[in-house]
Amino acid sequence: MMPVQRDYEFDLPASRLSSWHPDGAGVSHFFNALSLFFPPGERFFIGSVRNYRACVSDDRLKREVKAFIGQEAMHGREHEAYNQQLEEAGLPAAELEQLVKKVLDLVQKTAPNAWQLSVTIALEHFTAILADNLLGNERMLHGAQEQYRQLWLWHALEETEHKAVAYDVWRQAMGDGVEAYVVRCGGMLITGAAFVALVAAFSAVLIEKDASRGARPGRLAAYRPLAGFLLGRDGLLRKGLPAWLDYFRTDFHPWQHDNRRLLRRLKEIAPAQQQRKQLAQAA
Ligand SMILES: [Fe+2]
Ligand SMILES: [Fe+2]
Repeated sequence: MMPVQRDYEFDLPASRLSSWHPDGAGVSHFFNALSLFFPPGERFFIGSVRNYRACVSDDRLKREVKAFIGQEAMHGREHEAYNQQLEEAGLPAAELEQLVKKVLDLVQKTAPNAWQLSVTIALEHFTAILADNLLGNERMLHGAQEQYRQLWLWHALEETEHKAVAYDVWRQAMGDGVEAYVVRCGGMLITGAAFVALVAAFSAVLIEKDASRGARPGRLAAYRPLAGFLLGRDGLLRKGLPAWLDYFRTDFHPWQHDNRRLLRRLKEIAPAQQQRKQLAQAA
């Protein structure tokens, strides 16, 4: 799978920041919270893969790495604009994003390169699971405001395309011995615990901030659908848990779960982007 860099842009209506998802403020803010991780997170991913560029010997993986960096840079740009809107809407987006940056800067300064890459492949596994659910279960984004839906579909598509790139760099750099397994799985346990705790905390901060400003409907109407979205029959956590556990197999590889068929959903976003480019050229 060769990732394709697409220079897509999205005009997210600020008036819908807290209500763009049909399940209301809770689910909208869950995704908004995730958005806060991407600009600093994706810069960290790029840096941790670049540390090992010299270990990549074959041309195909070199091209994949270049495309991976290109895609993550575009995601960072669009999520920066998204997060800026959250901040302008009076939500503490900059402060929360800064916290993510501080944590990742600390990892970059103190952890060896292997552990940094281990954090990256762990987080890439989380994004791959989220992407697989968003693309594979149409109800996840059904009825969402169209620009938000398109942004999340685009990000999910590209995360799927490049889900194995950092992992393949890891394998070339670290091999598949006992040390590689311990660092990979240790990295996942530490990163996973921190990531889940921060996403939960950030979602709650955004929901509470809205609720404290008297947003209607209130807290219960935010948290209840979010609980269903995460823990219900088709919930993200329930569906994602087996895929997350696969990571601990000694022979794990992201493409053991072959979900390339889901990339056909590109047709839901490509025409609108083409139209957008034509309009920009004509103007
Ligand atoms: Fe990304
Ligand atoms: Fe990614």
